[in-house]
Amino acid sequence: MGWTTVNIPSQSGRLAVVTGATGGLGYETALALATAGAEVVLAGRNDSKGARALARLRAVHPDASARFELLDLASLASVTAFAEKMLAAGQGIDLLVNNAGVMAPPKRQLTVDGFELQFATNYLGHFALTARLLPLLRSIPGSRVVNVSSLAADLNSLDLVDLQSERSYVPFRTYGTTKLALLMFALELQRRSESSGWRIEGMAAHPGWAGTDIIGNGPASCGWQATLWRIAKPVLLRFSRSAGPAALPILLAATSPDARGGRYYGPTGLRELNGPPGMAKVPARALDGSDATRLWETSERLGGVRFA
Ligand SMILES: NC(=O)c1ccc[n+]([C@@H]2O[C@H](COP(=O)([O-])OP(=O)(O)OC[C@H]3O[C@@H](n4cnc5c(N)ncnc54)[C@H](OP(=O)(O)O)[C@@H]3O)[C@@H](O)[C@H]2O)c1
Repeated sequence: MGWTTVNIPSQSGRLAVVTGATGGLGYETALALATAGAEVVLAGRNDSKGARALARLRAVHPDASARFELLDLASLASVTAFAEKMLAAGQGIDLLVNNAGVMAPPKRQLTVDGFELQFATNYLGHFALTARLLPLLRSIPGSRVVNVSSLAADLNSLDLVDLQSERSYVPFRTYGTTKLALLMFALELQRRSESSGWRIEGMAAHPGWAGTDIIGNGPASCGWQATLWRIAKPVLLRFSRSAGPAALPILLAATSPDARGGRYYGPTGLRELNGPPGMAKVPARALDGSDATRLWETSERLGGVRFA
């Protein structure tokens, strides 16, 4: 039998921050970490969803050490406010799971900061968050940052001169760009951590395909796509996994003593859509070190942060 939640070592005494933990994979990740004894911060943009997620978690584990904190990844001011609250509390962070995401809304949308929504939420917000939390991550030797990527990273669609999809917005290609960027960010974080002695492990994971809210909130959020999704949903979801098993690659990356920085984890079944968690195939473009450097420098500029 493959790696499952029973293989998670005790997380007692460890602080984990999971973004987008109000539902889907993020919630399942937070639940498994809390079950293993971690103190978990469920970070999300919606207070009432946060309260509901906490109530669900406490219904399973009344003694869980978990709390909800407001964090809207699509707003750099919200990212700063969240990080400042964490820094003021001063508790070292053992694990940051950069999970929150939106997928392929049919129309190009802008955030309050003027960035394309998917780029800002999935990638830039997490980049800025990680930079701002760096002192707390660095205070725990061996702390981990797990970026949740996707098979869509394999579209190799990163366009470094059009990161905002201004020239052309093809919803799923833009999604693939953000997921490739997250993977490259994880690998570059590992390289920079090694060369600068930060003692942080940067790694990535993808879930394969999970039947969460991501389609209804994204590509099928409006118009004819919503109608089509209502019709096709029962059939398509039969081929997906539920969020619990799909979160296993994230949990393996986050907790396994055998997991290492610089690696990419995912399901090991057919086309990495499902199956037991293990090593995933890294798309060729993600290994381009000079692109990763350019992306990093651009992200520091756009996000108004420095990792130094
Ligand atoms: N499901 C899959 O098959 C699949 C495959 C590959 C990768 N992934 C990745 O897995 C991650 C989790 O997705 P999921 O499938 O669990 O989808 P989901 O059920 O839609 O959950 C997404 C989570 O992200 C949160 N979120 C969205 N925008 C946010 C923002 N601006 N600030 C803070 N939180 C925000 C959502 O909060 P609200 O509830 O407030 O919207 C929700 O908690 C995503 O990064 C996704 O790209 C999923």
